Amino acid sequence: MQTHPRIGIKAISVYIPRHFLSLDTLAVVTGVDPAKYHLGLGIRRMAVAAPNEDPVTMAAAAAHDLFARYDIDAATVGLLVVGSESGVDAAKPIASFVHGMLGLSPDCRTFDTTHACYGGTAALRLASDWHAVRGTRTGKVALVIATDVARYPVGSAAEPTQGAGAVAMVVGGDPEVMELDPFPEAVYTKDVMDFWRPHYRREAIVDGQVSIDCYLRALGHTWAAYEQSSGLCWDDYDYLLFHVPFPKMAYKAFHMLHQREVLVRGASGAGLASLEDAFIARTQPALWVNAEVGNIYSGSLYLSLASLLEAGGPGVQGSRAGLFSYGSGCCGEFFSGRLGPRSTAWEGKIGAREAMESRIELDYEQYLEFRRAGARMTLDGSFAAGVARPVPGRFSFDGIRDHQRVYTTAQEDLGRDWAASDARASSAKAQIGK
Ligand code: COA
Repeated sequence: MQTHPRIGIKAISVYIPRHFLSLDTLAVVTGVDPAKYHLGLGIRRMAVAAPNEDPVTMAAAAAHDLFARYDIDAATVGLLVVGSESGVDAAKPIASFVHGMLGLSPDCRTFDTTHACYGGTAALRLASDWHAVRGTRTGKVALVIATDVARYPVGSAAEPTQGAGAVAMVVGGDPEVMELDPFPEAVYTKDVMDFWRPHYRREAIVDGQVSIDCYLRALGHTWAAYEQSSGLCWDDYDYLLFHVPFPKMAYKAFHMLHQREVLVRGASGAGLASLEDAFIARTQPALWVNAEVGNIYSGSLYLSLASLLEAGGPGVQGSRAGLFSYGSGCCGEFFSGRLGPRSTAWEGKIGAREAMESRIELDYEQYLEFRRAGARMTLDGSFAAGVARPVPGRFSFDGIRDHQRVYTTAQEDLGRDWAASDARASSAKAQIGK
């Protein structure tokens, strides 16, 4: 009998920006019934990246915490892949910046993967294949980070689905968080224009309804393909996790699969729980962080996994999860894995609940100011240090000098004169507001 190496996620941590905008605040400004955001989309709050946070600082922070919480030696990382749709440079990958910030070994291959919200999954799948071929021989692990700022035009229908954050994962052998099932891949690719972001724009363009249709088509195709290749069926999954552009999308996806199962079982529907009961048991526990953070594009599926791990406790250990990843453009993939075997492996190490406890609420004007300041810092190459106080002990993007992005590392942050920084911030804010 053929045996497969046990490969998967050994560690997982998230970084969530400290600032957020309540969807109630947005509803007042847009004149939309808040119930549409809460119930129609399933979102309560959206994380807002500060002007000195970008996909690089978020990725570095997520990985920095991951190493600290799981006591991982950075020297063991032989591959760093960053999945993101919000690259900060047309040539230099986010991974290079992060490699430097984390002080990883020179013997480490680094690059980015971009495919809208599929970039994180592309990175994860590639990393697990890499480990099977190379990592098992060298004893090295892969670091996979999904990091994005989801930004749509102010006043657009997609604006309430924005968010920001990063998820970092170590991929390797004897995985303690999730062992990936070794079945052949189930993917679906089609050239469509449902969501895209031209190089000259900071905000994505989306045809929302088309993206929902493409998502569901990709799900139907990959679910059927995976059923064939794995032999796994509805009853084999304790949990079903989906890419979460907004939590209601996960409900739509679950609904479609449930309907399919109703058809498979025929009129009696023997043994099948009702749609609501099944959703509450299998998917809802994996959505609470997403509802608080919004869409983080490439990391949304893994933020959902983090939600489940933090909420589920020992109850999820040993269970099987099916995961559906979707990236506009488009590419979808269905795969699965076993959680565990012991929840102690990740308890207290994910960081989502901790991040929720120290958040700062923005009013609508501050939210707009963050957007304007962030745009000004990147678009004209001006240097604007101290626009907002970074979270202490974090990485900070300080602006562009001589066409190079300038980052302050955590160590430098610790010695900063915050009074002087705040004075600079007020003056920079005044400049930016003009
Ligand atoms: N109370 C409760 N629900 C309400 C409501 C109210 N007062 N008013 C509207 N709703 C519901 C609608 O019925 C709809 O639910 P349904 O999808 O179950 O039918 C939902 O809120 C959304 O409203 P709708 O008017 O259909 O869409 P919209 O114009 O607000 O756009 C998106 C919604 C998701 C298309 C838009 O936010 C978007 O483009 N997002 C980005 C793209 C994206 O995330 N794509 C997903 C695939 S990757």
